[in-house]
Amino acid sequence: MRTLLYPGSFDPMTMGHYDLIARACCLCDHLIVGVLHNPKKQTEQFTKEKRIALLKAGCAGFQNVTVRTFSGLLVDIVKQCGAQAIIRGLRTEADFAIESEMARLNKQIKGIDTVFLIASPEVIHISASRVREIGRLGGSLHGLVPDTIRDDIEKGLAKE
Ligand code: PNS
Repeated sequence: MRTLLYPGSFDPMTMGHYDLIARACCLCDHLIVGVLHNPKKQTEQFTKEKRIALLKAGCAGFQNVTVRTFSGLLVDIVKQCGAQAIIRGLRTEADFAIESEMARLNKQIKGIDTVFLIASPEVIHISASRVREIGRLGGSLHGLVPDTIRDDIEKGLAKE
């Protein structure tokens, strides 16, 4: 069984994440979406539990997608969940710089490969940080996050 792990902060899930999940789940038997902590991001908007709930609702239409949370080193998590590779999305050259460094490190320390998908043109400009900013300032997130979870995200961001 071919299993891929899609790790990320997902704070919150966006249409960019949805695009990657929709495409990645066609490339494997089982796609595990792993909610992880990014040590470079000091503050998180949504709790881990809330991010998982949003992802589960946002991924409800995909039969072979599981959403879970993990802690620790990504390469250990890959082994732990029986995945063959990591999958990540790329939007910009800045993404490439960060992602290629992580991919090389993960390959070197545990022999784990990373597969990259280039974000679809319709979502390439969407980031979770911009979604948080727009939502906090009361803007509509229509088209930026999946419709099924938009209300929940808008309310969560407007609460502040
Ligand atoms: O969505 P993000 O914030 O870009 O995801 C980054 C993430 C969570 C995939 C990355 O920070 C990560 O892999 N964290 C786990 C800790 C780890 O293994 N760090 C070493 C990476 S080379």
